[in-house]
Amino acid sequence: MEIYCTKDYEAMSRKAAAIMAAQVIAKPRSLLGLATGSTPVGLYRELIAGCTAGDLDFSRIVTVNLDEYAGLPGTHDQSYRYFMDHNLFDHINIDIANTHVPNGMAPDPEAECARYEARLRELGPADIQLLGMGRNGHIGFNEPGDAFIAPTHVVELTDSTIDANARFFASRDQVPRKALTMGVGAIMRARRVLVVVSGADKAQAVKAAFAGPITPQVPASILQLHPDVVLVGDEAALAGLKGAGCLRCG
Ligand code: F6R
Repeated sequence: MEIYCTKDYEAMSRKAAAIMAAQVIAKPRSLLGLATGSTPVGLYRELIAGCTAGDLDFSRIVTVNLDEYAGLPGTHDQSYRYFMDHNLFDHINIDIANTHVPNGMAPDPEAECARYEARLRELGPADIQLLGMGRNGHIGFNEPGDAFIAPTHVVELTDSTIDANARFFASRDQVPRKALTMGVGAIMRARRVLVVVSGADKAQAVKAAFAGPITPQVPASILQLHPDVVLVGDEAALAGLKGAGCLRCG
């Protein structure tokens, strides 16, 4: 595992974007696994700048997103499809037909999960899977539980996740209670996993995930079993790894 500890959010975004950009340049037909949430926004901004400057070409890139809320159409400003279009896809030269996000409006969410999983299998392993991390250690919408779930599946969001995401909705009541998420199977099949974390409120989860036991109670802890994980975080988020054997963090 590689760990990059940066001074702040902006530096984290630049470092993580450089890793994604290197992938896009090295393999113009890369399959990129993407995430939503506030953490990757700066990274996406950097990729847009790279594309605008003519340094990055996304014309042959294919993407798969981790998750989507059940019940929100892609036109809803809190849907993850909308997030991806507005924070990245609309500003780069990607073919939108090559971007994949689970369909939150599918009448049968279980069938949609099966369809998405089959598509993931067809596309093959992501060359790089970007992940943020929840304060409870979730990745995608794989919430703490009794077992790791491998395939794409429907999840009931935990109170902690609903609370964390309520800031994006007019009220807590409007936060969807269910989501469709890639399971840990496709995440672990990715050739490389890039985890981005920022802020002191992630420090506990980062410590539990990377310096604690591997347990489904901390879904991100399964990444300890992945052979190629890059963790890019600012000092505040990585503070818990200090003294836990992380050389780059002191
Ligand atoms: C988003 C996702 C989530 C977020 C996590 C962190 O597609 O799958 O797991 O990565 O909730 O969110 P932020 O970055 O907003 O703290």
